[in-house]
Amino acid sequence: MTATESSLEALSREDRRFEPPAALAASANVTAEAYDRAAQDRLAFWEEAARRLTWTRDWTAPLDWQPPFARWFVDGELNVAVNCVDRHVEAGHGDRVAFHWVGEPEDDTRTITYADLLREVSKAANALAELGVGQGDVVAVYLPMVPEAVFTMLACARLGAPHTVVFGGFSAQALVDRITDADAKVVVTADGGYRRGAPSALKPAVDDAVARCPGVRSVLVVRRTGQDVAWTDRDVWWHEAVDRQPETHEAQGFDAENPLFLLYTSGTTGKPKGILHTSGGYLTQAAWTHWAVFDLKPETDVYWCTADVGWVTGHSYLVYGPLANGATSVMYEGTPDAGGRDRWWRIVAEYGVTQFYTAPTAIRTFMKWGDDLPAQHDLSSLRVLGSVGEPINPEAWMWYRRVIGGDRCPIVDTWWQTETGAMMVSPLPGVTATKPGSAMGPLPGISVDVVDGDGVSVGEVGGGFLTLDEPWPSMLRGIWGDEQRYRDTYWSRFEGRYFAGDGAKWDDDHVLWLLGRVDDVMNISGHRISTTEVESALVSHPKVAEAAVVGAQDPTTGQAIVAFVTVRGTTTDEGDAFLQELRDHVAKEIGAIAKPRQIVLSPELPKTRSGKIMRRLLVDIAERRPLGDVTTLADPTVVQQIDDTMGALASRG
Ligand code: PRX
Repeated sequence: MTATESSLEALSREDRRFEPPAALAASANVTAEAYDRAAQDRLAFWEEAARRLTWTRDWTAPLDWQPPFARWFVDGELNVAVNCVDRHVEAGHGDRVAFHWVGEPEDDTRTITYADLLREVSKAANALAELGVGQGDVVAVYLPMVPEAVFTMLACARLGAPHTVVFGGFSAQALVDRITDADAKVVVTADGGYRRGAPSALKPAVDDAVARCPGVRSVLVVRRTGQDVAWTDRDVWWHEAVDRQPETHEAQGFDAENPLFLLYTSGTTGKPKGILHTSGGYLTQAAWTHWAVFDLKPETDVYWCTADVGWVTGHSYLVYGPLANGATSVMYEGTPDAGGRDRWWRIVAEYGVTQFYTAPTAIRTFMKWGDDLPAQHDLSSLRVLGSVGEPINPEAWMWYRRVIGGDRCPIVDTWWQTETGAMMVSPLPGVTATKPGSAMGPLPGISVDVVDGDGVSVGEVGGGFLTLDEPWPSMLRGIWGDEQRYRDTYWSRFEGRYFAGDGAKWDDDHVLWLLGRVDDVMNISGHRISTTEVESALVSHPKVAEAAVVGAQDPTTGQAIVAFVTVRGTTTDEGDAFLQELRDHVAKEIGAIAKPRQIVLSPELPKTRSGKIMRRLLVDIAERRPLGDVTTLADPTVVQQIDDTMGALASRG
């Protein structure tokens, strides 16, 4: 952890603190009392949070914990969609806006009230039922950021059918892997979506994938761009299958542990893991944290989470958390620069956004684009700013506070993971005096412990590995179809504890700093990508013999992918076109987000005498640092050669 150690030093000098604004603190949803209450009786605290939801059958016990398997709210029953939609309409809030949907093309907007949402979700549930979807049937969702993505997720929830949303930027191959692993019977997609002003096709990837997935019976297709699509008997248009359905659907309660969704995420081995989340505990924590951490006032606030529905943040803080709380949200289809680099700030001003939740990579991009763009718009409606996905560096935090938050809004830096389902470590905006760059400490009801390599707690001050030593309601319930991998990945490194894969440090004030991944998982723009997956993709190219991939620090994306590749003996073609071919190959295999920023061809890779690739040295090379100890290498000249190549590339710009 060399990078970790150097950041430790820099961080321990951070002594600026920002108190919560007095007005916010005075009317905050959650006060300091919550920490005491949760500390006294953690389970009673979560039971009270669960009572914010509507249950069709009460639970008999808050928790059944057979490590590492948890059942929360045992025997309780609820319908997640009813909690997110129907009950708000029944309470008289049918006219409240659930989503101000903003399409990428200018003036392409939709206003969806809770009454509209109820109608659309009911129709979609009826249509899915007609396609044979029932409790336990997995539906794969491969959609752009259109309202139908939300309708589909909620329709699945309504039927007790788990969804697995695949980010639209992933390739056909990634879709095949996920559909096959989840055994999905129905896929919901669109003809295409808008990307930077132009329609971009989605259906061809689904056609390609479904041709290799014999288990898929139907493909439901939303018409978004109107572009031409190929058609088979399996395909059904959304506007034909859904629009003619009855506008009501009678929902039933399902067990609190009924699977709600699978979401695939990268691990240290090549195969993505299907992270399983269930209903009652997940919704309890997603809803409570959303209400507490954003201090959400559903009657007056306009909340905006910029995450795509394809990621866990989109699940918990664009769909389930906000809707369970009856929030009014903005949902935006496009990229931050579509229609101008001030598009986001225009949206904030136009809709009077009060809470804004985004990722450090976006914040750093806006810093680069300059203060004048946000300055052109009235951002005074903002009350709370959130950050998620990767550590936020203190400069970016300060910029966010000053330029976006007008030195007035508290920043909540929220640490959590696909596996944790909901926020775990975060300040509370009306309680915590924050330090720039720190996620501060565990939320009420959550227990974290930083341990050393032997699993011994470092106590109140000190650095090490972040573990969770008590179960929490929205925790993953397993890896789909692979119990052993669940145990091995999360519960075997430290006895009786969940290991998150992150380094962390308590500073002298017992404030928590997240220090990034300690395994072979990169964090690119807040998205986890495993080095192994990219290596496998490169090696699947016929001209590649061997590949080593590392995450190198990048000023905008946090980390960027740098690949070191040796080619097969007969390959002579090593020009820029070939490098581009390799990058495109990775995009085809995994998706454009996994494209290496840089590929360095090398006759050999640096290996120890036992044949293990020395990644640490490759990171040094990729980050243009002086090389560390090379004496354990089988051939120390190799690394110098690669370093020279990299130096030559860097000087070419
Ligand atoms: O390394 C941590 C980082 O993102 C990882 C989880 O990635 P994912 O499952 O894709 O979920 C991202 C959105 C919740 C973590 O293991 N991470 C996430 N939030 C933070 C963070 N690192 C530091 N600070 C954060 N606030």
